[in-house]
Amino acid sequence: MIQFRRFEKGMELGDGFFEGWPHPPDKETHEKILENSALAIVAIDDETGQVIGFVNAISDGVHAAYIPLLEVLPSYRGRGVGRKLMEKILHELRDLYMIDLVCNEDLVSFYKDMGMHPLRAMGKRNYEAQSGKK
Ligand SMILES: CC(C)(COP(=O)(O)OP(=O)(O)OC[C@H]1O[C@@H](n2cnc3c(N)ncnc32)[C@H](O)[C@@H]1OP(=O)(O)O)[C@@H](O)C(=O)NCCC(=O)NCCS
Repeated sequence: MIQFRRFEKGMELGDGFFEGWPHPPDKETHEKILENSALAIVAIDDETGQVIGFVNAISDGVHAAYIPLLEVLPSYRGRGVGRKLMEKILHELRDLYMIDLVCNEDLVSFYKDMGMHPLRAMGKRNYEAQSGKK
């Protein structure tokens, strides 16, 4: 069974997150990302005790939140875990005015199903910091 919980320091992160990233954050940085977020929700496989999916939000706590990362490990995809993570974080953030994220075109309908709508976004990426600030 898959359990959904708020992230807590010390939870064991599964292997293989940041699939396809040339310079992925290491586990320690991944843990810091979740720990330093305003809110992070994880999916845990209760047979292994490992985190197999996560979503996080950074926020001012009163008005706006941004969802930088959502990922489910490849072998757990297509079973509704990603949808559940998003539903849970959107529920937690429901009192805020602005909840934004950036995604590729192929995921527009996935997020539309959750009541989100397309916006024009601008961003900057410092690829030398992709694995995290040193
Ligand atoms: C996106 C992601 C989190 C979805 O997780 P998941 O657990 O497989 O999602 P679900 O099983 O809840 O699927 C929900 C729906 O989205 C669809 N979907 C998921 N990923 C999709 C993709 N890449 N392209 C198109 N549709 C997709 C599924 O077909 C499913 O539709 P259905 O319920 O009508 O069958 C997962 O594919 C992932 O980790 N991808 C790599 C990281 C990523 O792209 N993150 C999003 C950053 S914006």
